[in-house]
Amino acid sequence: MCGIIGYVGNENAVPIIVDGLKKLEYRGYDSAGIAVYGESGLFDVVKQKGRLAALEDKLSGFAVKGIMGIGHTRWATHGEPSDANSHPHLGTGGKIAVVHNGIIENYKQLKEYLLKKGICFASQTDSEVIAQLAEYYYNGDIMETIIKVANRLEGSYALGIMCTDDPDRLIAIKKDNPLIIGVSEHGSFIASDVPAVLKHTNRVYYLGDKEIAVLKKDSVSFYNIDREPIEKTLERITWSAGSAEKGGYEHFMLKEIMEQPKVLRDTIASALNSGENKTVIDKLEIERYNKIVITACGSAYNAGFAAKYIFERLCRFPSVEVELASEFRYKDAVIDSKTLVILISQSGETADTIAAMREAKSKGSDTLSIVNVVGSTIAKEADYCLFTAAGPEIAVATTKAFSTQLVLLYILAIRFAARLGRITPEYERELSHQITTLPDKAAQILEQIDFIQKYASESVGSKSIFFIGRNIDYAIALEGSLKLKEISYIHSEAYAGGELKHGTISLIEEETLVVALSNCPSLYGKIMSNIEQVISRGAKVLMIGNQPKIKSDGKLSHIPLPEICELFSPSLSVIVMQLFSYYTAANKGLDIDKPRNLAKSVTVE
Ligand code: AGP
Ligand code: GLU
Repeated sequence: MCGIIGYVGNENAVPIIVDGLKKLEYRGYDSAGIAVYGESGLFDVVKQKGRLAALEDKLSGFAVKGIMGIGHTRWATHGEPSDANSHPHLGTGGKIAVVHNGIIENYKQLKEYLLKKGICFASQTDSEVIAQLAEYYYNGDIMETIIKVANRLEGSYALGIMCTDDPDRLIAIKKDNPLIIGVSEHGSFIASDVPAVLKHTNRVYYLGDKEIAVLKKDSVSFYNIDREPIEKTLERITWSAGSAEKGGYEHFMLKEIMEQPKVLRDTIASALNSGENKTVIDKLEIERYNKIVITACGSAYNAGFAAKYIFERLCRFPSVEVELASEFRYKDAVIDSKTLVILISQSGETADTIAAMREAKSKGSDTLSIVNVVGSTIAKEADYCLFTAAGPEIAVATTKAFSTQLVLLYILAIRFAARLGRITPEYERELSHQITTLPDKAAQILEQIDFIQKYASESVGSKSIFFIGRNIDYAIALEGSLKLKEISYIHSEAYAGGELKHGTISLIEEETLVVALSNCPSLYGKIMSNIEQVISRGAKVLMIGNQPKIKSDGKLSHIPLPEICELFSPSLSVIVMQLFSYYTAANKGLDIDKPRNLAKSVTVE
């Protein structure tokens, strides 16, 4: 977690850093801070617990200015959210300033070592040891100092470092956490993620592990940990600056929900008939594998769970497993060179998913990733990578990235099934055609927004909401439930319709809301029975689905979906559930884009 940004250039660093932090706030928002190399030759540091807006308020009372600075927006791992624990951290002598994203696992040993040398600490963070150790080692050569520090750190870090003796040099180094280096006409940047610099440049370098970047206003040079110069390739980002702005919407989440027809279209185009994703899919030799394992976290896991139904149904593959990456990484999985491990991640930086990928590789399995962020760790390290064309996703709750993950998984399953001879060319064409209709059908759902908004406004008082479905409807119910709880703070659970009666039904009482999904024709009768069962115990039901001949009546309300093959119906029902969650949270006046306790990319364990 945490977002870091740094700038050295011709302009005042303060507004540039604050603006960059706004784009990174999704990564953490327990506190924020900034350090600028000021005219006095010292660092001006302003830090504030709480949202970035609180830091902005505080900054308005200070005349902070300078052409080099670093900033941080924090998701606390060590030490409570407080002003003192906010970054940047300085050494006791005020000579070296550091912002850190990651966790220093041996910070206790390092802190004890420094305490014995008489060094006083100002915070409870693990990160402060970096600044203190650097100052303790400093011998006039900041590069040498940083290398010495990096060699003692265990854990993960992306660091932005300034030294008062080097008023025109900003230094960065990373291990296991992302860092990009941007170059523009007026200066150079470090940042945790591309949106932070898009306003200024689309030309970036991706820093590798244990690589050091030395930034000056008009140049950037790179070194390895042995201080030898290295060459890196400058890459051009295709995302526009506007794609990281709200574009008139009240929240990024709503904007991102509304963008789904477009990003679905772009993603489908890249994978179905031509495009880079298609080239990668065609390269995969599915015949070589006897097992598929899909592993991911949170919503990305839910996308994988839905895909399992499709892979099984279409490919008749003997073994398709879906695992939470946090479990997979430690379970000593039974996989080998005949296993294809599919990793799904919007950010490409989720620590558990990265570890799962490395575990799979170490056991000789091939890895295929589905990632949104180009240049991210998973995109770079996996053997094969498919990119979702979702564009930057800023809201913590994923919507458009999830939807694009789903369509890539559908296309993958269809291609695999065709390659394995499990479906006829005609059926392959029919299924592919159905996929091309999804963007327009998604747009039709977005037209029903008024009804969903109204229904959500009536559900605001709910203490608990249940989601039920059978088969692939159950898989997508999990995502509906996660979406609701993460942004509305309403307790929610998703259940397989047939499982409800084995315990959970005891929680149903008068006026409990049950969202029932119904898109599987062979199970229409079964899910209707589950609906009857909960209604007869007092529940009210919102049915989402393409089950025909259902009319809203009494305790049952129905949101019909455009007709689509049941395997692809999750793409439509999920949009209704995203909107339902969004409006429920909006009616409660919550901070939808930045729900409490969460951060968008979970780069720590
Ligand atoms: C989704 O709304 C969540 N905020 C979260 O579950 C997310 O999907 C998960 O942390 C995985 O992130 P990734 O896709 O970047 O790996
Ligand atoms: N460990 C640091 C802190 O708690 C940084 C946290 C992070 O990057 O997630 O301040």
